Amino acid sequence: MKKNPLLGRDVISMRDFEAAEIRAILEQCGRFAKSREPLLQGKVLANLFFEPSTRTRLSFDAAMKRLGGATIGFADALSTSISKGESLWDTIRVAEGYCDIMVIRHPAEGSARLAAEATRVPVINGGDGSNQHPTQTLLDLYTLKQRTGRIEELKIAFVGDLKYGRTVHSLIRSLSWFKAELWLVSPPSLRLPEDFLEDLRESGTRHHIVEEIAAIPDAVDVLYLTRIQKERFADAIEYERVRNAYQVNPTNVARFGPKVTLMHPLPRVNEIHAALDSHPGAAWFDQAHNGVIVRQALLALCLGAA
Ligand code: CP
Repeated sequence: MKKNPLLGRDVISMRDFEAAEIRAILEQCGRFAKSREPLLQGKVLANLFFEPSTRTRLSFDAAMKRLGGATIGFADALSTSISKGESLWDTIRVAEGYCDIMVIRHPAEGSARLAAEATRVPVINGGDGSNQHPTQTLLDLYTLKQRTGRIEELKIAFVGDLKYGRTVHSLIRSLSWFKAELWLVSPPSLRLPEDFLEDLRESGTRHHIVEEIAAIPDAVDVLYLTRIQKERFADAIEYERVRNAYQVNPTNVARFGPKVTLMHPLPRVNEIHAALDSHPGAAWFDQAHNGVIVRQALLALCLGAA
């Protein structure tokens, strides 16, 4: 019997996992595509969302309920005693008495790690500032496998906000294990931060830093599009300068052919022309829906039920 890679662990950063562990987690996901086994009956998930979310919060909620468990939590820090000055540490120490596992989303980088230090129950990072979004990465990898049949040796172009986009940071970190070749397309002010570039250099991952969609070769397997993360900009003028930097449409993606996979973690603003929803490669709604299956697998594994 294979070892459960998540038993008794937190899910904070893709840096904490090895390639074999990622493969083992993805192998479990298929089991949850149709199953409604009540593996977590009697267990409680706390969804602690200090920042807005649609997909991550609702899909964790749906995942826990599909597994027969219950959920508690909040979607707005202002409705909690944080607004009276309570610390994150105390909030987590209190919440641990009400649940068996918790998901935290917070605007501060490192907040999920801090939460994991504060509590004995498993903590899953639902996004900490611009840093990491590991569960998005797992659902992205699951969708990539579904769409392309593999997660190894893919040619992927990331387009948009590579500085603040946490989904990009997490996914790039894991693709470096799977022999990907990357095109990093952004305005100079939104380039991938140096520590993630250092990861790519250390792992020998081939990557190309460019500024135009035109510089992406026709033969890429995947275009991973991102929103310019308005909420992370300290300077509104700087945001205005880059907000419309990239917009993909049926004309400028035509040269990639019908087999290219088009991904976006959502929410999107104006970076994708609505006509691309009917492109055969458009995967954004699959990504969002696969979030439930992948999060079912994560919850069941973390709690030792799978
Ligand atoms: N992709 C993603 O994390 O979406 P939400 O912000 O809606 O959770």
